[in-house]
Amino acid sequence: ENQIVGVDIGGTKIAVLRGTPEGQILEKIKFQTLPGWEQNLEKIADLILEFKRKEQGQSFLAIGISCGGPLNDKTGVIHSPPNLPGWDDVPVCRILEETTGIQAYLENDANACALAEWKWGAGRGYENLVFLTFGTGLGAGLILNNRLYSGTSGQAGEVGHIRLTTDGPLGYGKNGSWEGYCSGGGMSNHYRDVYHEDLSAKEICLRANQKDQKALNIIKSSSQQLGRGLAILLDVLNPELIIIGSIFSRDENLFRSQLEKILAEESLPQTYADCKVVVSELGESLGDLAALGVAMKGVHLKTKQE
Ligand code: BGC
Ligand code: NA
Repeated sequence: ENQIVGVDIGGTKIAVLRGTPEGQILEKIKFQTLPGWEQNLEKIADLILEFKRKEQGQSFLAIGISCGGPLNDKTGVIHSPPNLPGWDDVPVCRILEETTGIQAYLENDANACALAEWKWGAGRGYENLVFLTFGTGLGAGLILNNRLYSGTSGQAGEVGHIRLTTDGPLGYGKNGSWEGYCSGGGMSNHYRDVYHEDLSAKEICLRANQKDQKALNIIKSSSQQLGRGLAILLDVLNPELIIIGSIFSRDENLFRSQLEKILAEESLPQTYADCKVVVSELGESLGDLAALGVAMKGVHLKTKQE
C-alpha cells in the first residue's frame, strides 16, 4: 500500500499526518509550534520516522509541506515568513529528505489550500479560481488555466503585502496593507489603533454578532477592504470563483453585504458578473488536505518527468 505524509506548519500549531493518495487521513499528530525552526524540524522528522516504523510494509511516496510564505516551492526553502519569526532561509525539503529518506515538496499554505479546494472542495471542476486564506495572515492561491500558478520564485499570491491605504492597520510589516485589514492579527491591530484595547479577531466577530458598534466598525472596514482587494484580483485575473477560508467562512454574514457592494462598484461589470464568491467547503480538514495535496502534486510531477 502507498501512503503519503502531510506537514502543515503554522505560526501557532504544526500538524503531521499520514494519509492515502486519495486524500483519506489515517493519522494526525498536532503540537504547539516551538521557538526556532531547528526544534520544529527535529520533532517533525521524529514523528515521520515513527510513522515509518509503525507502518512497515507501507511505502511512503512523498512528504507535502504547507507553510506560510514567502517561500520558494522550486528550491524548497522558506524565507522569513511574517508569522514564523526566525525561519530565515530554511531549506526544509532538503532537511526532511535527509532525516526521513522520503522525497519532500514545499508549497505556500494558500496555494496548498487552493489545490485542496480545487481537488476535493468548493473548487471542483473550475478552470480559474482564487483561494484567499483570511486567517492568521492573508494569502492567495491561484489556480489558472487548470493549474496552480506559483510565479517565478513561489511568491505569486502574496496579496497580504499589497498596500491599500497609507495609514491603515499594520499587517505584513506595512501599514494599510491588505493583511492589515483582512487577517486575524491585522483586525486586532486595527481595533487597538482605534479603541486602545486588545481584542482577538474571534472576540471582535463575537461582539459584532451581538451588534457591538465598535466591533461592527472594524468589521465594516475589513469588509470594504476585502471588496477593494478582491475587485483588483477580479480585474487582473478574471476568475470564475473566489473561495475564502477561516474568519470569513465562519462569519460570512458579517462581511457579505459590504463586500458585495464594493465589489460591484469597483470591478469591471463583466469580471464581477463572471465571478462567484463562496466559503471554503473543506472547513476543519482544509489544512490537512492541503498538505496531502502538496505531496500528491509532487508525486504526479515526478511520474511525469520520469
Ligand atoms: C504569508 C502568506 C500566507 C498567508 C496566510 C501571510 O502572512 O506571507 O504566504 O499565505 O499569511 O498564512
Ligand atoms: Na500564495
